[in-house]
Amino acid sequence: MVRAWQVSELGEPARVMRLVELADPEPASDQLVVRVLAAAANFPDALLCRGTYQVRPDLPFTPGVELCGEVLAVGSAVERFSPGDRVLGGGSLPHGGFAELAVMDPTKTFLAPDALDNAQASSLYIGYQTGWFGLHRRARLLAGETLLVHAAAGGVGSAAIQLGKAAGARVIGVVGGPDKVAVARRLGADVVVDRYEQDFVDVVKTETAGRGADVIYDPVGGETYQRSTKCIAFEGRIVLVGFAGGEIQSPALNHALIKNYSIVGLHWGLYNTFDHFAVEECHRALTELADQGLVAPLVSERLALTEVADAVQRLAAGTTVGRVAYDAGGAR
Ligand SMILES: NC(=O)c1ccc[n+]([C@@H]2O[C@H](COP(=O)([O-])OP(=O)(O)OC[C@H]3O[C@@H](n4cnc5c(N)ncnc54)[C@H](OP(=O)(O)O)[C@@H]3O)[C@@H](O)[C@H]2O)c1
Repeated sequence: MVRAWQVSELGEPARVMRLVELADPEPASDQLVVRVLAAAANFPDALLCRGTYQVRPDLPFTPGVELCGEVLAVGSAVERFSPGDRVLGGGSLPHGGFAELAVMDPTKTFLAPDALDNAQASSLYIGYQTGWFGLHRRARLLAGETLLVHAAAGGVGSAAIQLGKAAGARVIGVVGGPDKVAVARRLGADVVVDRYEQDFVDVVKTETAGRGADVIYDPVGGETYQRSTKCIAFEGRIVLVGFAGGEIQSPALNHALIKNYSIVGLHWGLYNTFDHFAVEECHRALTELADQGLVAPLVSERLALTEVADAVQRLAAGTTVGRVAYDAGGAR
């Protein structure tokens, strides 16, 4: 038997996640079973609990869409991994990462870089892959360009800061509150805007001598998106990453025409379906950056398994900083 968080009805994470004992999962022929070493919390974990994510798994399920684990058992058709491998990637629902054992799909599993500890490695998948595809594949970010990152101390935002800096961009981060200002600075942002104190549009215009940001990375949406169109540069690219603010904006297409900017959609998960080679290439690039010390997920909280539901709730409320991860090696 293993301990696992389980969702049997939909609702707020802290209410519907229950820590239970389950039978050990068995791998299907095309699956891996791993001992969970660490599992990072993500906004989609909260959306899965609420039933508002694009994927709606059958109930009951264990959330935890991103993890680092040690391979215990491999299905008969799995060739790329062996027991003992230290891996990272996506949790296969209904057996996600918020548990002592989880199931993984080998097409969404990669060897974990030695340069990262378990909690960091568990955070190198969704946020960093999303950032890499968003900035390089969709926005074609160039060295010397100005990158504006919203929710810059959060999961996907913190990755975008490090990847933007690694690509040679000048990075302006927007965050809510002084604790997050400090985190965005630690992550390497050149300029940090506290959205409670300053108008990011004014700051971007001042910092770019009126030109605007070349790339805007937006996991928040709504009013944040609308304001972003006021400080996007000529031939700039606004990357639509998410709607953490809860409102899905309706863009004024005439404005995009008049100012000559692009509105770029990003659904990272689709690359697994349409261009898996690129996903492998992305992981190789991230591993190299980790080995060079250019990217290292900032894990601000290392949780015991019992603390996970509360952390997912706080993440959904926007009050977590950096990455929060269940760390089987012990909460610190
Ligand atoms: N497109 C893709 O392929 C893809 C992939 C992964 C994730 N996502 C999406 O990216 C978004 C961010 O995910 P994440 O896991 O990295 O979360 P997160 O950034 O850790 O948390 C969301 C952040 O958004 C900001 N925010 C602004 N208004 C908010 C509000 N009304 N409620 C809550 N937060 C608010 C907060 O930061 P500040 O207070 O600092 O502003 C908060 O910390 C989610 O919408 C997620 O679904 C998309």
